[in-house]
Amino acid sequence: MIIDFFLSHQHEDLPFVASLAAKLEEHGLKCWYAPRNVNGKYARSIANGISNCKVFLLILNHRSAVSDAVLNEVELAHNVSKSSPYAIIQPICTENLNLYDPEYQEMLYYIQRMHFIHACDDTVTDAIVDELRRKYPHLFDSTQQRHSSKYVVQHIEDERLALQNEILRRFDDDVYQRVMGQYSNARVLDVGCGTGDMLIGKISSFQISAFLGIDRSSRQIETARAHYGGDAYTFCQMDVEGEDFSEELRLQLGAMGIDSFDVINISMLLLHLNDPMKLLTRLYSVLSEDGIIIIRDIDDGLNFAYPDPTNAFERIYRMCEHDEQSGNRRNGRQIYTDLHHAGYTKIKLEHQGLSSIGMTLEERNAFFNMYFPFTLENAQIMLQKYPWNTDYKVDYEWYKKHFDNIHEDFLKPEFIFSLGFVSYTAQK
Ligand SMILES: C[S@@+](CC[C@H](N)C(=O)[O-])C[C@H]1O[C@@H](n2cnc3c(N)ncnc32)[C@H](O)[C@@H]1O
Repeated sequence: MIIDFFLSHQHEDLPFVASLAAKLEEHGLKCWYAPRNVNGKYARSIANGISNCKVFLLILNHRSAVSDAVLNEVELAHNVSKSSPYAIIQPICTENLNLYDPEYQEMLYYIQRMHFIHACDDTVTDAIVDELRRKYPHLFDSTQQRHSSKYVVQHIEDERLALQNEILRRFDDDVYQRVMGQYSNARVLDVGCGTGDMLIGKISSFQISAFLGIDRSSRQIETARAHYGGDAYTFCQMDVEGEDFSEELRLQLGAMGIDSFDVINISMLLLHLNDPMKLLTRLYSVLSEDGIIIIRDIDDGLNFAYPDPTNAFERIYRMCEHDEQSGNRRNGRQIYTDLHHAGYTKIKLEHQGLSSIGMTLEERNAFFNMYFPFTLENAQIMLQKYPWNTDYKVDYEWYKKHFDNIHEDFLKPEFIFSLGFVSYTAQK
């Protein structure tokens, strides 16, 4: 069921949440909050609520900022909103707070640069509802449509996010469909699976006899497990750079009653590793004789923008190379060599570069939002981490000042941008 608002909160804020939900429901809006709407298994129910909500209302204060449950929910919403039209995060502050206090450090990663709604005295007022109506008029409008004609309006924002998803899907979906189509009952390993959404979304129509998703983040694994775990789907926390990784993986294979995988997927992980070749070598022994490894990664050195008379775009890629959140942004180019040294053969560069050519204006806008707002956010994070670094300060100030112009240039019909995604397959 599609929900308008998911209300994420620390349990002491339940009275506030119940009262806000009641007010929104007076307007015909569908609200979801725990424990009222939990049905069946707690974690799975929460994950379903978040995946199906249009707006994720984060009730933000010093309690929720350090609550593991709330942080889990925010992380899931953040991931859902990256690849779908759902779970746009909207913080509502219930007290005066300083986001740069240490207690907000983890939360800050997800919510900085967002516009907050303020409800400082802990009471739900019409002003909060009015502000929500102003920011999300389509939700309020669509309830009127729902009542009058049973027709749910799809708002332009939803369409933009769905377009982002579609753009990435188009980049290499053919590879996944072709590879999966070669096996009647594939055994699949997803390395650095995150919440599992990326790969499982692509392969759910194929028959799978075993699926193992591994990731270093226990939170991601819990989310994946809550969402997809069971039957043939297993998720385990593992650090692929850990000393005992090969042994842990072997033990897990034994527990699953298999000795190898037909398909190994590594999407957007290698760039974050110190030694990508070591992982490729370790995985070689668990790829079946006729198995295929699929790699998706990025190389910002393959990006290009034209026209770029002031080298603004070049400057952004350079900034991105220094930021610590983004991994090795030139990793894409070394994948062929690493695969070769790790012993793989039949290495194929399936796709290189995702370009704006042929995109509609709406698609180009979605493409812009896939890369540039994150680079601005990362520039800000670098400055916060190293406030004494004048280069970071100059870069961030420059980027903030020119961001709208860069966006405008990006949307011009004669402008082309190509983002250095690469996609490889290889065999034993
Ligand atoms: C950018 S995300 C990619 C997620 C997913 N594969 C996708 O393409 O959407 C990178 C993932 O790799 C995981 N990761 C990073 N370093 C890792 C490591 N050393 N071992 C296991 N997972 C790791 C992160 O926790 C994160 O979930």
